[in-house]
This record gives sequence, C-alpha cells and structure tokens, in this order.
Amino acid sequence: MTFKSLKVNENVYWVGALDWDERDFHNFEIVRGTSYNAYLIIDDKITLVDTVKYEFFHEMMERIKELIDPSKIDYIISNHVEIDHSGSLPKIKEVAKNATIICTSKGKEGLCRYFDCKNWDFKVVKTGDELKIGRKTLMFVEMPMLHWPDSMVTYIKEDKLLLSSDAFGQHIASIERYDEELGVEEAIKWAKIYYANILMPFSELIKRKLSEIEKLGIQIEMIAPAHGVIWKNPGKIVSAYKDWAEFKSENKLVVVYDTMWNSTKALAKAIVDGAKHGNIKVRLFHVRKDPWSEIVTEILDAKAVAIGAPTMHNTVFPPVAGFLAYMKSLKPKNKIGVAFSSYGWGGGAVREINKVFEELKFEIMEPLQVKYKPTEDELKKAFELGVEVAEKISKTY
Ligand code: FEO
Repeated sequence: MTFKSLKVNENVYWVGALDWDERDFHNFEIVRGTSYNAYLIIDDKITLVDTVKYEFFHEMMERIKELIDPSKIDYIISNHVEIDHSGSLPKIKEVAKNATIICTSKGKEGLCRYFDCKNWDFKVVKTGDELKIGRKTLMFVEMPMLHWPDSMVTYIKEDKLLLSSDAFGQHIASIERYDEELGVEEAIKWAKIYYANILMPFSELIKRKLSEIEKLGIQIEMIAPAHGVIWKNPGKIVSAYKDWAEFKSENKLVVVYDTMWNSTKALAKAIVDGAKHGNIKVRLFHVRKDPWSEIVTEILDAKAVAIGAPTMHNTVFPPVAGFLAYMKSLKPKNKIGVAFSSYGWGGGAVREINKVFEELKFEIMEPLQVKYKPTEDELKKAFELGVEVAEKISKTY
C-alpha cells in the first residue's frame, strides 16, 4: 500500500480506501472509480466513522494500524447502512469486540438485515443527540432518505467538521484527497455527477435539510464525505447543492437520441443546428455510446430536453426506453420536453416519450415524427424546431 492514512484535522484521520478499478455503482457508470472514506477519531474514546467496501477491509485496517491498535476502538459510527460503507463492519467487529455501534434506529434495522448483529451493542441516536468522546463532542443529524432511510451525518463540534456520509460526495478515486488539491471546480464537477445520479430525486428533501442545518446553527469549516475528496471550501459545495436542489438551470438544451438507419440521428443533428442558431448551449448524446451518468448530469441544469427514438414494434426503441426509465427515476424538474422520431408504419415512439415527459410534469412541445427517412422539408422542420426550443428557453427563467 503506497498511500497512508491522512490527517484531516487534529486527531481525525482518513483511513478509507481508493477503488481505482470500479466502473459501476448500482448502474451508475463511474468512469474514474471511487473512494470509500472511513475516518478515525483518536480521543479518550477511539471512534471509527463508517467502514469500507468488504474487499478493502485489509487496506482500511493497515491504515488504522499505523495509528492505533484496532482492538481499542470504542465506537463505530455507521452513518449509512449501504454496503459500500458497512461492508467491513462484521470484520472490524471481530477485531474491535467491545466497540459499540452508533447509528439511527433505521440504521440498526438495516444493519441487522444485512449482518448477524445479535451480539453487537448498539447505541441508537437521533437528530441533536451528542456524544462526548473526550476533548471532542460528536453531534448527530438524521438525514432520512438522503439517500436511504437510515442515513445520518456526524458533526465534530469543536472542529466544525461535518462527516457527511454520501452527501457532498463524489465518485472519483483520486490521490489528491482535498478539493483544493484536485481543483475545486474539478471536485464540483464530480460532485454534480454524483448529485444528478444519486440525489436528484431527493432535491426537495435536500432543500429542507439544508435549511434545517442552518437553523441548528451548525457552523461548518470542513466537510468530509464518504466518497471522493474532502471539502476545505464547504461554502462552494453547499451553494452548489442549493442550486442543484432548486434545479437552477441555464440556457441549455440536451438532445438525446438513438437511431436505427440514421433518420432519427439526422433529426437530432438538425435540431441541434437550429438550437445553436438560437444562441444557447446545446449538448448531443447517443444513448448507447455516451454514459447515462453524464447525460443526466447535463439534464440536471438544462432548461429543455429533446429525446429522439426510432419506433420499433409500435413503441419506443428499447435502448431509449431504458434511458427514459433511468431519467424518470431521477425525477428532473422544470424542463421543456421535445420528442422526435422516425417510424416506418404505425408510429408510437413519440407517444411513449411524451408519457414520460408528462409524468415528470415537463412543458411538452409538439413532437416531430417522420416516415422512414426525413425529406429536406422535414429536416428544415427539425431545424426550425431547434430554433423554436432555443427561443422558448431564452424566454424561460
Ligand atoms: Fe455510498 Fe449510499 O452509499
């Protein structure tokens, strides 16, 4: 192991693991791997906050052993049940036999579903509960459904350090462990991808939780999430979260398509040309060639989404149907929706695309359908549709 534990603050250490090779996180394509961030707090009571994915247990242990004897761990805080953070819990419990596990009541329920916990000691906590571990005081804030029912964060009061679990995380394996080292803008880019693919459906909750945390008077000087780099600039990422949770958008159209014989592709390109003529940002994606994680990240702050698919068996071409299901599950809001399609006889793709737009409460524009291959006139119509979308976008706030 070349990379050792890292001092985050006085007596707080990163003891997690970098996963350079993983590319799939429950269907979220993570093109630069990820990290599992566990933190060790050395005080009168030695406290481990979260663990790592099971395969990385030994890596975490090596980092812990550099600092203390792991059998001396008194508390293991489980901010979140999901296995990327709790996977090594049974193994560490075999070593730290007397450690008490601290989590929410849903956390206890979840951990005991995944693991045999009958001999484990638990301390169940709720928002506002505090635990003095020596010089440091830990405060807990429940974060139900951000993004699991059990989720919580741990705040070290004296250090103004928030151990934020998945919130503010990024799926990136990076030897640079701080936002400033990676580059703050770069870190925000990865955090945006994470937000779009994991947290977007919970945007309303996030807005409420951010204001609740403000009301609790919690001052934050540093945020150490469970994935990715640590934020020495918490203001920047908190402000970005506010924007994303409000679906603050820019004058941007995202065009997503698939094609059988290049007809839908020709429509997509004509729409892009028309929209560009209207002086807005345009992004074009192919459903089978581009990562869905990137497409939905662009959709997060776009004002309009155009989706094109060939009609197949009177319905939408299956790869686009898959993408529509993914997008729908993430619940993007406040968008204009445009459907377009090429069909051979019955048609049906635009109807299915519009159904999804309707469920997402998008403002739906008149769809464009062409038979077999678009004529010059039809390509002109597609171009004009692009111009029309751009005009609409420019008038939308
Ligand atoms: Fe990183 Fe929800 O687990």
